[in-house]
Amino acid sequence: MSPGSRPMSWWDMARFHALVTLPAALLGLVAPNRFVVGWFARWDLARLAVRFVAGLQRKYGCGHLWLWFPFARTLLVLDRASIDAVLTSRDNAADPWLKKAALSRFVPDALVISSGDAWTERRRFNEQVLDFARPLADAQKFKDIALGAVAQWAPEREGRLRWPDFQRLALRISHEVLLGPGLVSPEMAAQLARMATAANVLLQRRRDFAAFYDRIERMLGQHRMAPSGVQPTHTESVPEACLLHRAARLQDDGRATSSVCVPSQVGFWFFVLKDALELHVARTLALIAIHADIHDRVRREVTQSPAAGEAAFADMPLLDACIREQLRLWTPVPLLLRRATRDFALRDSIAIKAEQQLLMLAGVFHRDAQVFGPAADRFAPDVHRGSSPPVYVFSAGHQSCAGQFVAMFLLKATLAALLARFRFELVRPSLRPDRIPCAFDHFDIELRALAEEAAAS
Ligand code: HEM
Repeated sequence: MSPGSRPMSWWDMARFHALVTLPAALLGLVAPNRFVVGWFARWDLARLAVRFVAGLQRKYGCGHLWLWFPFARTLLVLDRASIDAVLTSRDNAADPWLKKAALSRFVPDALVISSGDAWTERRRFNEQVLDFARPLADAQKFKDIALGAVAQWAPEREGRLRWPDFQRLALRISHEVLLGPGLVSPEMAAQLARMATAANVLLQRRRDFAAFYDRIERMLGQHRMAPSGVQPTHTESVPEACLLHRAARLQDDGRATSSVCVPSQVGFWFFVLKDALELHVARTLALIAIHADIHDRVRREVTQSPAAGEAAFADMPLLDACIREQLRLWTPVPLLLRRATRDFALRDSIAIKAEQQLLMLAGVFHRDAQVFGPAADRFAPDVHRGSSPPVYVFSAGHQSCAGQFVAMFLLKATLAALLARFRFELVRPSLRPDRIPCAFDHFDIELRALAEEAAAS
């Protein structure tokens, strides 16, 4: 039977905006608002959206509902086969006006808000530098960066770890991966944080903007080779095992055309890499800490795996599954929004017109008990391995996250280094293993790190 679609009633649309759209805006379109995050986590308010959407499916008996989101006619796609169809289709782009309005404030021309030929060029460039779907060229160097940062950070911090500790660790690893070993720029991080906060309320800070990108441009220039192919003298002091160097080399080889807008791509990496590391290291440790059995097994895995001393982390399946399971439970990009680039029929039956939008609620889907069964609200890294339902934490299809391989590698390297040294206890916020809330207040996190001897006594 071909799938159909139905219009959402005005009343349901109002409830949808109260429970889904407004919280998304209050939590922060770009940078999370710590007060709102705290409230949402304390009262598990995001669960209201999960329940409401499950109710919509029952009420309409249909996985495709039309609504206005926020000012454009939008198809809410709840049906699993249709989510896959949208994400694999070439008839839409991930640059709807709202996303563009927020992100273009501080990462103009980034791949994540691109479409058409510009998207194709930028995607190719991103995949080349970020080693998409292939072993990382600088795996050993990146691993050393993560291990070195943990070694320096952890001993002096044994005891209580709070959010600023994770921020500091992530700043160091992300900047060394981007700029080269030993190079960290707290000033650029502060600039970027101000830009992201301003983007939340769709405000533009031109001064911050220009200074940040001028600086990236200058750094790229230092990494570029002379036009004749002769190394300029300064390259001797320029680190080669970093993303900036790889980006500059592609520019130099003519493999990054002007429409790639290299500084914008680099600016986006600066933002997401630090953000991903601080958030997902902290959250994954919190979940591991409250599951004693998984904690023991994953610590055994990281200390005994032959990969612990090698460049690759392919042999750490439980740690990999823990990170992915954390991402499922607290999906960092909960709404996936697309713009139809031309008229087409979704699964040959639902007519979509150009410029209409398609909305997928990845965060809600990942908590759907109809899909994930009793493990929907549990941290169950074993259950979801193998023949598990699909998860869309990195989106899917040709516009999936271009940095997912580098992100997973660095998360694994950092977590493996931490877990090999310490056992962790979650001091706060309190979490119940039998019902993981739909949001976690990472700003309030406090973990106790116990070195091996202390843990044994
Ligand atoms: C665990 C961390 C991460 C998660 C969960 C994640 C998730 C996502 C998701 C869901 C999208 C699709 C967004 C949309 O369609 O609206 C996306 C896009 C993207 N991500 Fe990530 N991301 C992560 C880390 C990173 C990192 C570290 C980088 C780069 C260093 C990166 C680079 C990108 C790029 C360039 C795109 C745009 C892809 C395109 O439109 O073709 N991401 N990411």
